[in-house]
Parts: sequence; structure tokens; C-alpha cells
Amino acid sequence: MDWQQRHVIITGGSSGIGKATAKLLASRGARVSIVGRDLAKLAQAQVEIEAASREPVLTIGADLADRAQAERAIQTAVAERGGLDVLITSAGIAHPGYFRELPVEVFEQTMAINYFGTLYCLKAALPTMGRGGKIAMISSGAGLIGLYGYTPYSPSKFALRGLAESLRGELKPEGIGVTIVYPPDTDTPQLEAENRTKPEETKRITATAEMWSAEGVAQAIVKGLERGAFIVAPGQEMTVLSRMHSLISPGLNWYFDRIVGQVRGSVNP
Ligand SMILES: NC(=O)c1ccc[n+]([C@@H]2O[C@H](COP(=O)([O-])OP(=O)(O)OC[C@H]3O[C@@H](n4cnc5c(N)ncnc54)[C@H](OP(=O)(O)O)[C@@H]3O)[C@@H](O)[C@H]2O)c1
Repeated sequence: MDWQQRHVIITGGSSGIGKATAKLLASRGARVSIVGRDLAKLAQAQVEIEAASREPVLTIGADLADRAQAERAIQTAVAERGGLDVLITSAGIAHPGYFRELPVEVFEQTMAINYFGTLYCLKAALPTMGRGGKIAMISSGAGLIGLYGYTPYSPSKFALRGLAESLRGELKPEGIGVTIVYPPDTDTPQLEAENRTKPEETKRITATAEMWSAEGVAQAIVKGLERGAFIVAPGQEMTVLSRMHSLISPGLNWYFDRIVGQVRGSVNP
């Protein structure tokens, strides 16, 4: 796929996986627009992405959990850079913790940005996309199986899977590709923040998971977009999970319960 002059909007392009994807696509000649809330972070990312590019990077400050701001962000990008070729929705948050201790507001905020923030952008972007357009939504391994300590986050990422699976067939006849991405644990500021509130049980459950770099996940996303893949599941663990999650979930639950029992000092029946 030739990325030259393609207009790519990347939500959450100021950090982590979104920023690494923005850099990679900019280095291939794409015209990149990035969206996030923190203007200083956006400005820093702009410098880094432009260092890999000949094209200026457009930055847009917006809270995508707010529908009006999300719509305005997409409209601004299209007005300034022209028709949209690719939308990558990477903006997201995660606040792990115990269900009983997490306030309802955390569940509302997580759904508002992870699911509705994606949906608002998609709704605003689609009418500006022609045949050959592509959409990539960033879900998570926690969007394939419910993960202990991730009761606000897992449902928001499951919701993206449902959206991608039901939307794929509708957009295919229009020549617009839908891709859903299930990144494994990836070394980003978000994961670092998650580790501060992650229950001990979750840390033990995910301790053996392979850690990816944001650049590695970005490579997988771009490769997936280039070959028109519906599912991008980087690495062996995510590949197995994405293909077999329903089949292996009883075994995984048994394994997770055992770890939880060990952490709590007793083995569950
Ligand atoms: N890191 C992992 O291990 C991992 C694994 C699986 C899936 N993922 C998913 O991958 C995506 C990227 O995560 P990451 O690890 O790269 O995180 P990150 O480094 O924290 O980046 C998150 C990006 O989203 C933006 N963002 C957050 N809330 C926003 C809002 N309300 N409005 C607009 N922008 C917002 C952030 O900018 P501002 O804060 O300035 O708004 C930032 O640019 C997320 O959807 C995440 O759930 C991550």
C-alpha cells in the first residue's frame, strides 16, 4: 500500500501506540493528524513525528469523550487536510482496581472515552471517506477475555469488538476496511500508570505475558492495514486468544482462579 499523501487521523496520537503508529506512517509519507487532550503532549509528539516526516503534522486538542468535541476534531482535520483516508482510534484509558472499590464514575469515564470516543469519531469520519478508506480500532487482549481487576476496561474493549464485528460487513460493500487490533501488554505511559493501581492478583496473572514495544505494535497495525486484515493480534498469545478465546476460557478461568487463590493465601475450590 502506498501511504504517500494519505490523510491519516490518529486519536491518541500524542502517546504510546498511537504516537508510534503516527511516526511510522509519517515516515512512509502519510499526512498525519493527531488528537488528544493535553496540548503540551500533542506539541511534543508533533516535533517527534515531524522529525520522521516531510509533511507537517496537524495537532488537534479535544476530549473525545465529549461528542461535540469529537465531531469538531474530525471536521477540523478534514477542513484543514482534506478527505480522510484512514482513521485509527487509539485514544483510551484504563483504571484497574477491585470492582467493589472503584467508583461508578470510573466505569462511566472508561466507556465514554474507549467506546463512545471511538464511535463519535467513526460517525464523523465515515461520511468523508471514499472507497479504499480504512478504519482501525484499538481494542485489547482484555477485549477478548474478561481480565481480573479490569471491570471498567474489559467491557469497553469488548464493546469495540462488537462494534467492529458488526460494522465490518456493512462497510465491506462500500470498499471501506475495518480492522480491530488486540495489542498485548505494551510498554507505554498507560501501562506504567496501570501498574500503579493494578491488583496484585492481576500482576501475577499477567506476569508471564510478553511485553511489546509501542513500535512493534505500530508495525503490526500498519502491516495489518496494508493487507486489509480484519484482526490484528500481535504475537503468539494474542493470536491464540483472538482465535480460540471461547474454547480456552474455561481453562483460563481455572488458571486465573488458582493464581488468585495463591495470592490470597488459599486455593479456591
Ligand atoms: N499499553 C498497553 O499495554 C495496551 C494494551 C492493549 C490495548 N491498549 C490500548 O491501546 C490504546 C493506546 O494505549 P497506550 O498504551 O498507547 O496509552 P497512552 O500512551 O496513555 O496513550 C493514550 C492516548 O490517548 C489519549 N487520550 C486519552 N483519553 C483521551 C480523551 N478523553 N480524549 C482524547 N484523547 C485521549 C491520550 O492523550 P491525552 O491524555 O492528552 O488526552 C494519549 O494520546 C488504548 O486504547 C489502550 O487501551 C494498550
